[in-house]
Amino acid sequence: MINMENKDVIIMSIESSCDETSCALVKNGREVLSNIIYSQIDIHKKFGGVVPEIASRNHLEKISQVIDEALEGADLTFNDVRAIATTYGPGLVGALLVGMSNAKALAYSLGVKLIPVNHIEGHIYANFIEHKELEPPFVCLIVSGGHSHLVYMSDYGKYEILGKTRDDAVGEAFDKVARTLGLGYPGGPKIDALAKSGNPNAIEFPRVYLEKDSLDFSFSGIKSSVLNYINSCKMKNIEIVNEDVAASFQQAVVEVLSVKLIRAAKLKKVKNIVLAGGVAANSGLRNYLISLSKENDLKLYFPSIELCTDNAAMIGSAAYYEYISGADADLNLNAVPNLKLGEKRYAGSK
Ligand code: KG4
Ligand code: ZN
Repeated sequence: MINMENKDVIIMSIESSCDETSCALVKNGREVLSNIIYSQIDIHKKFGGVVPEIASRNHLEKISQVIDEALEGADLTFNDVRAIATTYGPGLVGALLVGMSNAKALAYSLGVKLIPVNHIEGHIYANFIEHKELEPPFVCLIVSGGHSHLVYMSDYGKYEILGKTRDDAVGEAFDKVARTLGLGYPGGPKIDALAKSGNPNAIEFPRVYLEKDSLDFSFSGIKSSVLNYINSCKMKNIEIVNEDVAASFQQAVVEVLSVKLIRAAKLKKVKNIVLAGGVAANSGLRNYLISLSKENDLKLYFPSIELCTDNAAMIGSAAYYEYISGADADLNLNAVPNLKLGEKRYAGSK
């Protein structure tokens, strides 16, 4: 029997879109009671990136354990859970299906609502967990391994895409540059660490702003520039200082992202700017934006490092706002690997 007398809404959320198997219990969208994250990074490292088949298999092996641990960590039972949320896209189809089928089975057997959540939207909501005062409207820069978006969030669940990448996602560029430097996977944190002892002005990599006023991004050019630089150093027998390459590459990317975020905030006349996604963990990006936001009289928000990368707590936060606006999917819910930001692709959606 579900305890419906308590007006607190406790949602169990499940995330398995890429290489993290995660389950969380979140109260009223903003209070994390538990957030268990099992990362497969060590397994995929030796392949230089995520292998989809291996990801699905490992999600299968871990999913029951992370669900049990989430309940234990919150000191709750299934009777306390008001709804089950699941990421249904975008992501790797086999990986998504593991978390989603577990969520469906739980929702059905407990007789509670099934709340589908868009993974990219989830990244934005990570900010609501730690910044209780933060409310829309704001402009958000979502930068992850698969996505680079500039978004105006006018209200909960309401998004206007102001710009996005025309080629590689930022995280992808970080990972590819790291691979070229022989740093391993995932490259972002490694470039970040190396850049701390490098000179950001050592190498003049291009800042690609595209057409005047465009809020889109392009990162394939800078990625090729880094490759060309390394090849030409090798040909000319010039020593490659990895720290300087990392710092100069990071600086070029950070400047473009930051300038466009500030421009977007001015365009939409908001006072709050928000970072989200795995690359939001980047210390260069955070520090550059801390000073740029002050200069421009804007308030900057970003999640703690753990909530920047994939986790179920952010899905539970997004699910709460979906829940109160009436979302409830039927059991035909399917994974949508190419789900777009702001898009709803399931039966029973509001
Ligand atoms: O959001 P996320 O965990 O997964 C996706 O939804 O894609 O982001 C993973 C991406 C990877 O490309 C990783 O290299 C990057 O985030 N990343 C970073 C840092 N930490 C993670 N990039 C730059 N600096 C970091 N500190
Ligand atoms: Zn993600």
